[in-house]
Amino acid sequence: MTEVTLLTSYDSLAEVYEWLISDAKLTPAEFAASFEDVLGLAPPNAQVLDCSCGTGQLAVGLAGRGMQVVATDASAAMVRRTAELSEEHEASIRTVRADWQELPDHFGDATFDMVFCVGNSLHHAEGAGGRVAALASMSRLLRRGGHLVLTSRTWELVRARGSASDYVRNGARFSLTPRTTRW
Ligand SMILES: C[S@@+](CC[C@H](N)C(=O)[O-])C[C@H]1O[C@@H](n2cnc3c(N)ncnc32)[C@H](O)[C@@H]1O
Repeated sequence: MTEVTLLTSYDSLAEVYEWLISDAKLTPAEFAASFEDVLGLAPPNAQVLDCSCGTGQLAVGLAGRGMQVVATDASAAMVRRTAELSEEHEASIRTVRADWQELPDHFGDATFDMVFCVGNSLHHAEGAGGRVAALASMSRLLRRGGHLVLTSRTWELVRARGSASDYVRNGARFSLTPRTTRW
């Protein structure tokens, strides 16, 4: 039930999702550069999966670095936006609509050198069991010695500091105040 609500909201958010991407990561090149510290771990022509691709900035940025990229997301609208961004940048990215637990239905074990699940995405998995199941899927798809790149945000810390995120796009300001999440 929670899942249905979540996906509906990401489908709605897809058209305006850039509001939630920080200024420093708005372009594909900048988004990929924000992972500079781990990109050197990938072999040349690495096979890479971004399994919560959102609007595709990271996937397109990685393709721009010569990686073979597959981008997946549970939200069909996000996957569509990633395909559009890929076309706009003349990148060659395979896009698939799949939630984390469906990934093994689409890709064989040990397919990827690197799997990305970034931008506070895993937090959407349902409870500890959902997070473990999602991580188990990602882990199956990684080659031996491959790397999972996972980023998350500690909203409690952000709240405790009394801060909210402010974004300005086309001269308009938007403030995001995080809600408390229990892991
Ligand atoms: C906060 S956004 C992050 C998007 C992108 N990684 C970024 O950093 O901009 C979270 C993403 O996770 C996706 N998502 C949520 N639940 C998911 C699930 N069960 N399986 C796969 N993706 C999911 C959403 O559709 C959304 O695109």
